Amino acid sequence: MSDDDLYIYVTDREGHKQKVDALSGWRIMEIIRDNELPIKAECGGCCSCATCHVYVAPQWLDKIPPPGEEEVEMLDEAFEVEDNSRLSCQILMHSDLKGLEVTLAPGTE
Ligand code: FES
Repeated sequence: MSDDDLYIYVTDREGHKQKVDALSGWRIMEIIRDNELPIKAECGGCCSCATCHVYVAPQWLDKIPPPGEEEVEMLDEAFEVEDNSRLSCQILMHSDLKGLEVTLAPGTE
């Protein structure tokens, strides 16, 4: 499969769902940001701000490696954390995540 075929779905905080192009090896945060969707991602992907917080659609959770210790600690400081909360800078895009669905969480604007 070529990288050109990859995409994810991003739902913004107003509930609008968009399909956006994705590239293998990119962080989900970068894909959201580069498609000009509103995500603060203040630290640029260093796992030190939690302003890239997203909710991952439940059917995708077991396809993503579990969060590392740093991510768990940062999520502790995020707003409105749910069981499916993740930091989008800590998820790398690859072909198995084609069609991944995430929703921007409060506090990322
Ligand atoms: S961009 Fe800062 S923790 Fe993800």
